[in-house]
Amino acid sequence: MPLMRLAYASEAAFEARPAEKGMEPNVAQILSTSRRNNAKHELTGGLYYGGDRFFQYLEGEEKDLRETYQRILEDPRHKHIVTLIDEPIENRSISRWSMKYVPLSADIRHFLEDEGLDSFDPAAFSARQCESMIELIRAANIDESSMAGAGADDDVPEESRATSVCLQIGVIISGLCLLGALAYTFFVV
Ligand SMILES: Cc1cc2nc3c(=O)[nH]c(=O)nc-3n(C[C@H](O)[C@H](O)[C@H](O)COP(=O)(O)O)c2cc1C
Repeated sequence: MPLMRLAYASEAAFEARPAEKGMEPNVAQILSTSRRNNAKHELTGGLYYGGDRFFQYLEGEEKDLRETYQRILEDPRHKHIVTLIDEPIENRSISRWSMKYVPLSADIRHFLEDEGLDSFDPAAFSARQCESMIELIRAANIDESSMAGAGADDDVPEESRATSVCLQIGVIISGLCLLGALAYTFFVV
């Protein structure tokens, strides 16, 4: 069966919830359907969502991928869909399917910074920028496989990681103070 790859950009048709308020319910729903269906049809790639924009890249057998894309095109949860890549491929370059929340993903923020882009607007990406995005999906895929189920650490906001480190340091310092106080009570008082 022939293989193909496909990328598109689109705009959410729902009111986007601010990233700090957690996963947007519409996106969570899309994610769970996509995980189930894409695994069944052996479609691999990634979906990036940020602000109110989507970028999706998929690889797989032509028949399955075209059927899936037809359903995606008819989905009322997004609009202004622009097909960026639609072409045959010899081999798959991605073995899994993943999803990223753009505002929380350091790799995409760095990519936007490097490209001098002030917002995530994939419909305006050049062919080279599209390939760079696909490269990020590929790299994230390799990271996740090598972490073997350790979880998508990248989707944890950097601020949360910093808070957690500060908390750990705070607990250690409190413990040391307590030990010091106990030692003082025993040996000095
Ligand atoms: C931005 C976006 C991306 C989507 N990506 C996928 C996908 O990768 N695979 C998929 O099966 N459905 C995807 N969907 C959902 C489909 O449009 C459709 O709702 C779903 O395939 C229906 O599946 P069901 O018949 O199993 O309920 C996406 C929808 C949106 C809005």
